[in-house]
Amino acid sequence: MSSLVWWRDAVIYQVYPRSFADADGDGMGDLRGITSRLDHLAELGVDALWMSPFYPSPQHDAGYDVADYRDVDPRFGTLEDFDALVAAAKARGLRVVVDLVPNHTSSDHAWFKAALEAGPGSQARERYHFRKGLGPDGELPPNGWQSVFGGPAWTRVPDGEWYLHLFDTSQPDLNWDLAEVRQMFVDVLRFWLDRGVDGFRVDVAHGLIKESGLPDWTEAQVPITSPGAEHRTPPMWDQDGVHDIYREWRRVLDSYDGDRMMVGEAWVSPAERMARYIRPDEMHQAFNFSYLMAPWTAAEQRTAITDSIAGVAPVGAVCTWVLSNHDVVRHASRLGFELGHSTQGGIGVGDPQPDEALGLRRARAATMLMLSLPGSAYLYQGEELGLPEHTTLPDGERQDPTWFRSKHEVRGRDGCRVPVPWQQDAPSFGFGPGAASWLPQPADWGRFAADAERGVPGSTLSLYTEALRLRRSYELGRGVLEWNDGDDLVDFRNGGIRVITNFGQVPAPLPPGEVLLASGDLAADGSLPPDTTAWIRA
Ligand code: GLC
Repeated sequence: MSSLVWWRDAVIYQVYPRSFADADGDGMGDLRGITSRLDHLAELGVDALWMSPFYPSPQHDAGYDVADYRDVDPRFGTLEDFDALVAAAKARGLRVVVDLVPNHTSSDHAWFKAALEAGPGSQARERYHFRKGLGPDGELPPNGWQSVFGGPAWTRVPDGEWYLHLFDTSQPDLNWDLAEVRQMFVDVLRFWLDRGVDGFRVDVAHGLIKESGLPDWTEAQVPITSPGAEHRTPPMWDQDGVHDIYREWRRVLDSYDGDRMMVGEAWVSPAERMARYIRPDEMHQAFNFSYLMAPWTAAEQRTAITDSIAGVAPVGAVCTWVLSNHDVVRHASRLGFELGHSTQGGIGVGDPQPDEALGLRRARAATMLMLSLPGSAYLYQGEELGLPEHTTLPDGERQDPTWFRSKHEVRGRDGCRVPVPWQQDAPSFGFGPGAASWLPQPADWGRFAADAERGVPGSTLSLYTEALRLRRSYELGRGVLEWNDGDDLVDFRNGGIRVITNFGQVPAPLPPGEVLLASGDLAADGSLPPDTTAWIRA
């Protein structure tokens, strides 16, 4: 692998198109809105943006239900708007990564409509997983598989057959044993590569192949799948056959110039299983969700970091690091709870509420720790503003299918998807020209607006901007860690910088040296307060 490829140490900023910026004023973000805010990303100093889906979709799962893989949903704009966005990004030195959703289509996709029409036994049904049900009249689902969003993973159609959907009923799983399905996605890759994208984020990369015969599995879905002594690998996840698909895609990407890349969303552990997705002839990167989920203690963070680095070494890949995305509670809120409190199901009005100040203090420390690590880091829109989760979103406003499919037991992911505040004093805080947005923003979000933080010493935006500048100039993304001991500290040297995070209850003395950046104020005697990270010139 060339040491010069851009993605090795890239910082990639996730844009969630529905919620980034709304140019046409309909209350939902769009591509022209994204283009209008690219200067923000360039000034922040990231290398690339990854956009969640903007393809034609009925939006039953916020666009992760794709009805046409080669177009732009009119809600978000046109293919011309997309081309203009790519050109504007390139002009600012920003790369563009798009989302690819291969595990399932939307039930509005032409293939699924044809399958419904053609009926049982037809070729058209082969593209999905249609089965007869169990029971005398086939009135029971073909097996006990559960949907990730809650409830059974099967839905019955009027002619009596059932189809498989690991997510919402509106997201039928494709049958990847079919050459025609494989060819379609190769064509889709080429379509976007030809339009100049630098890479793909591959949705549910561990799900495409199902164990043959769809053997029964009645256990509930867990966030991270791992084979264990008493548990074989669940038949819907992490099957060996997925790797052939990524090898084929890799050949397609390699046939283009410009170091095009793929990053997989694969919720698998342990690290050795993850590493299989990033072997030299497969994907370039995979998201590091074990790191995202690591508890806020020195020991757990140290283990998460060293295990991650050790895990990718055998395959010669680079590590990735991530703290927030559109599927989890934002880390500024997640870290505001007592150790051991799970935010897995989202946060609602009646739930325990995070300590906002504590959450933000830890989030800033966590981000500085993350940005000091070698490899590639992923940021989620708004975290550079210190944006918390919307934790008091009225239940009546919720749109996440998880909320509905769990019969209102799991609040879901809407709280991290609330539109970004750009201006302190503007309708919808500058998200768009209209006052309303598809999810309501908390009334006090002007505090986090980009224009309230830009250029302000100590603001979270200033902290991110400075951390990214130092990360680049000290080449932290390409370094090697040398660890120091410390009970309540994560303490290492990465090239010219010593990084120390204090997880303890009391301030920790700092070694001599110039403090280049700290995530919070140092104590009067110069020591490092709890929940704070410092970068010291080594
Ligand atoms: C991935 C996406 C998530 C989506 C799901 C189904 O996990 O990140 O948002 O709901 O796949 O496509």
